[in-house]
Amino acid sequence: MSYSPGLENVVASATSISTLDLENHVIVVRGYNLVELAQKSSYEEVVHLLLYGHLPDRGELDRLSEELKSERKVRGEIYSILSSLPKGTPPMTALQVGVAALAGFDPDLEDNSHDANLRKAKRLVAKTATLVANSYRILTGEDTIQPDNTLGHSANLFYMITGRRPTEEEQRMFDTLFTMYAEHELAVSTFTSRVVASSLTDMYGAIVSALAALKGPLHGRANEEAVKMLLEIGEPARVEAYLSDLLSRGLKVMGLGHRVYKKGIDPRAVVGRELLGAICKKKGREELFEMTERVTSYMEAKKNLYPNVDFYAGPAFYMLDIPIPLYTPIFAASRMAGWTAHIIEQQDRNKLFRPRALYEGAFNKPYVPIGER
Ligand SMILES: CC(C)(COP(=O)(O)OP(=O)(O)OC[C@H]1O[C@@H](n2cnc3c(N)ncnc32)[C@H](O)[C@@H]1OP(=O)(O)O)[C@@H](O)C(=O)NCCC(=O)NCCS
Repeated sequence: MSYSPGLENVVASATSISTLDLENHVIVVRGYNLVELAQKSSYEEVVHLLLYGHLPDRGELDRLSEELKSERKVRGEIYSILSSLPKGTPPMTALQVGVAALAGFDPDLEDNSHDANLRKAKRLVAKTATLVANSYRILTGEDTIQPDNTLGHSANLFYMITGRRPTEEEQRMFDTLFTMYAEHELAVSTFTSRVVASSLTDMYGAIVSALAALKGPLHGRANEEAVKMLLEIGEPARVEAYLSDLLSRGLKVMGLGHRVYKKGIDPRAVVGRELLGAICKKKGREELFEMTERVTSYMEAKKNLYPNVDFYAGPAFYMLDIPIPLYTPIFAASRMAGWTAHIIEQQDRNKLFRPRALYEGAFNKPYVPIGER
């Protein structure tokens, strides 16, 4: 037996869903380059690829799109539960509550067959986007909003969050960012979902645990923290002093570094950088982009660390006027496709996860009755 803290460099699953091809600098999703998919196809096409294993033809895409639309609505009972949460509940926590509550209404809940899991996966992909927008509306005292079924998946999410339809340019940018989040091998949330699913519990339970993992700042919340940091820095000239102070206090710069991409940039961050640069220029916010450039130069020089997708996705969502607390929930709405694909794969050829621990405690202590301790 061997021990690797954090399972670093351990292969913990066999999968045909995705891999990080470090040699060629490509995130491979079912044979395709994820970044290319994000730039050239719609999110729904990638959902089809993840759940069915191949890119759809026109008929298959239309069928899936219609199915997702027909599953977008969330029952009033769920909104009542969300309305009873304290207003300060973090949006990711509210999302966990919402998804957990959906479980009881799913007729396929206890059926882990491939087909039933596929039906649940599509419901989860469709309804999570609605929940992301409406749970935040409830927490912030706004009225819930109905999905707009004339819009595709990501455009509808944008609409439900902002209350307005995206322009064509905004839609292209949002869909690319959104789709880049759809799948990324065994990130801690995906690994968690597979571990939980391996007990043959239901898909919803595995998803709630994945949401909990995504909420953490070392994973999904990095996109929110990255923007908050840039806003706190305020102007390009302050970047270096700010980072020097942060590092001297042993703190991390969110959106930088990655367990797997140790020697170069996350391929998704390359596109994120381009999109952010373009929108900052268009909106006359060049100083925001300049700050990101100075952060990455400094961190590469001082710590040999490179940006990951969150470092650019957060600021890009910010430039699209999306409220900061929604960045991790948006990530969740997209990754739902990846998580559910992994859960299906796990349960289709299940092996219970049950590793061993390196015991660092004592042995052979004599038992002392309570009255004598
Ligand atoms: C993602 C992350 C957890 C991966 O880290 P890991 O493989 O466990 O590596 P470690 O956290 O042990 O980091 C190794 C070294 O780099 C440093 N480091 C890693 N990421 C850092 C960051 N973002 N800022 C500052 N230092 C960082 C660590 O402090 C450590 O330094 P040391 O050897 O001097 O102690 C880490 O890079 C991180 O916390 N990044 C910020 C959060 C983030 O952006 N998460 C989203 C990932 S997609």
